[in-house]
Amino acid sequence: MARHAAAAGLLVWAVLLMVVVLGAGSYSPTHERRLQNLFSALFPKGPLPLPVRIYCKQNTTLNAAIRDNTVVLTKANSSDPTQMWFQLYSSSSFVQPIGLRPFSLVNAATSQVVVIPPFSGEFPSCLAEPNNNQLQLTENFDLNKAREELWTRGAPRADGFYQVIVTKDPSMTLNGLLGNVRDGTVIGIYPSTTQAENTLWKLTSASPFPFSFP
Ligand SMILES: *[C@@H]1O[C@H](CO)[C@@H](O)[C@H](O)[C@H]1NC(C)=O
Ligand SMILES: *[C@@H]1O[C@H](CO)[C@@H](O)[C@H](O)[C@H]1NC(C)=O
Repeated sequence: MARHAAAAGLLVWAVLLMVVVLGAGSYSPTHERRLQNLFSALFPKGPLPLPVRIYCKQNTTLNAAIRDNTVVLTKANSSDPTQMWFQLYSSSSFVQPIGLRPFSLVNAATSQVVVIPPFSGEFPSCLAEPNNNQLQLTENFDLNKAREELWTRGAPRADGFYQVIVTKDPSMTLNGLLGNVRDGTVIGIYPSTTQAENTLWKLTSASPFPFSFP
């Protein structure tokens, strides 16, 4: 009995923590329940993982967000739920520390799964050109895509940033397309030839980098 109460307490705590982390008002218990239902095949027993924010080394005041159904870097805003992402780790038949397991990215606000485009072979040189290497999004949460569209964390450097590698094609990594990232930079994939600052990321639910959560 006491054990049940403790378990229930833990669950409530996890839910409360999520609401606090995501900012009161931007992420309701109803939304939490909806997500829990969507992800029920992935998390049949436990609470959802904490969402992460995605930062680029080149400009840490920016976060990955969804604008016009496109994944872009934009000014960090703790009240914008599209800046929160779930890393859904694949279960692995061989034992691997969780941080090294492939994961998919699901937006906490929209439940859309990030779809990795095939590399187009094109190297657009300005923002105005169409960029076929940009990340795509499923229309809704899609369990099959969540299982297929996988990323693997690269080895962290001394500063804690790492490349985010396309699991099925490790020659490609997550990229703030065209570099010199700014508000509005589209995020995509690109050949991982250098460890330029627009190819280095942190995915973290930990404060205070660079936020303190409300
Ligand atoms: C932060 O996001 C919230 C929710 O989307 C929005 O209402 C607010 O205007 C944003 N703040 C800034 C400074 O953009
Ligand atoms: C980071 O991006 C913001 C918004 O585009 C810009 O105002 C700021 O100057 C940039 N910082 C650096 C170090 O590039």
